[in-house]
Amino acid sequence: MARIGGKNASRKYLVVLSCVALLGIALVADFLWASSSASASSPYWSTNLDFSVRNEVSADAASKAEQEKKSKPLKDQISRSINATFADLPALHLDWEEMAEAPVPRLDGAAVQIKNLLYVFAGYGTIDYVHSHVDVYNFSDNSWGERFDMPKEMAHSHLGMTTDGRYIYVVTGQYGPQCRGPIAHNFVLDTETKTWNDLPPLPFPRYAPATQLWKGRLHVMGGSKEDRHEPALEHWSLQVKDGKALEKEWQTELPIPRGGPHRACVVANDKLFVIGGQEGDFMAKPGSPIFKCVRRSEVVYSNVYMLDDGLRWIDLPPMPKPDSHIEFAWKIVNNSIVIAGGTTEKHPVTKKMVLVGEIFRFNLDTLEWSIIGRMPFRIKTTLVGFWDGWLYFTSGQRDKGPDNPSPKKVVGCMWRTKLKF
Ligand SMILES: *[C@@H]1O[C@H](CO)[C@@H](O)[C@H](O)[C@H]1NC(C)=O
Ligand SMILES: *[C@@H]1O[C@H](CO)[C@@H](O)[C@H](O)[C@H]1NC(C)=O
Ligand SMILES: *[C@@H]1O[C@H](CO)[C@@H](O)[C@H](O)[C@H]1NC(C)=O
Repeated sequence: MARIGGKNASRKYLVVLSCVALLGIALVADFLWASSSASASSPYWSTNLDFSVRNEVSADAASKAEQEKKSKPLKDQISRSINATFADLPALHLDWEEMAEAPVPRLDGAAVQIKNLLYVFAGYGTIDYVHSHVDVYNFSDNSWGERFDMPKEMAHSHLGMTTDGRYIYVVTGQYGPQCRGPIAHNFVLDTETKTWNDLPPLPFPRYAPATQLWKGRLHVMGGSKEDRHEPALEHWSLQVKDGKALEKEWQTELPIPRGGPHRACVVANDKLFVIGGQEGDFMAKPGSPIFKCVRRSEVVYSNVYMLDDGLRWIDLPPMPKPDSHIEFAWKIVNNSIVIAGGTTEKHPVTKKMVLVGEIFRFNLDTLEWSIIGRMPFRIKTTLVGFWDGWLYFTSGQRDKGPDNPSPKKVVGCMWRTKLKF
């Protein structure tokens, strides 16, 4: 399969970003950066900045951009080329129904569906508080029911997670609030008995790695290294069966072509797919006793990689736009991978994170992407389920409103729409 789009697209953004910098808007970026670090509330959560400083700055940036647009034809080219990514892509209207709200709001949690139950794990409640329990949603009667604790030693966000239909395998993740680093400790949950057991630790801690069960082995690849920021390329696997490791140590596998966290990792038709994601993330401010989150550069990408025989990564057609924060935002429906929401590249002028509200479909018969609709709002790290023809999503961080795609409220709401294709 030919390499198309992804690399060219990211090269294009690099060019765009350099041009924007040349036009002097870098000054605004510097100011934003400085105000991020000085702010009392974390930019990761971004509420403080969103309400005060940033609004002024972006208004300023917008008028500056407006002036430059009038005087420079080059600026027109830039506006045109950034448009496609930051605009909402055309999509059919979907009817959405709001269901029962989760017991707690959560960001960067994890979810696994087993039959009619959606197990929703961990996540931030606020930037200074992380959950250490599981909530269970029942698709048959559309209610939140059971709640049980996670082991004290288990990470609270940015976990890798997958299931064989009874056992849920839980890999590494970030331990504690703010921007603490990941651990290497892994667990397995028996959903029938609600008992937890240990699995052999990863060779190194990983933050939000791509994780799946494939051909009888638990695969873990990519993610960030201990600092949350540096992309990791390593790929390991462990033979597992019925909730038990059949090996003492993880084996080294073919490294992934591009590292980094927040990707969808899917097994379908006996093939392993790794979709979207990013390089870089927020990291702890050096010396901060609370590991306060500080924003660092991030590159979001649209690449789709596939492993067929385990010997060679194959490039597949990229997503319609770069998309990250989608690790539990997908489902397989009728031999298509359906992905809801996420984040795309940051806005080149305001520098704010841009959330995604499209629902993407990757048809595994034709290897073509399409957009099958739009969510009621844009949202990242949402947790998705599919039952009886309905696509559900809950949790995550939603946008500020129809006209502003930057992140605001962390939510626990649950919505569903009837999928047709
Ligand atoms: C993006 O470009 C399309 C086509 O050129 C145009 O119709 C649309 O108004 C643009 N959107 C924005 C937000 O500039
Ligand atoms: C889910 O709801 C159905 C229908 O009310 C019920 O029969 C079933 O026992 C519930 N499952 C759990 C695990 O609560
Ligand atoms: C999937 O396939 C089934 C059976 O052919 C069909 O009834 C259904 O409408 C299709 N689409 C979705 C979104 O389930």
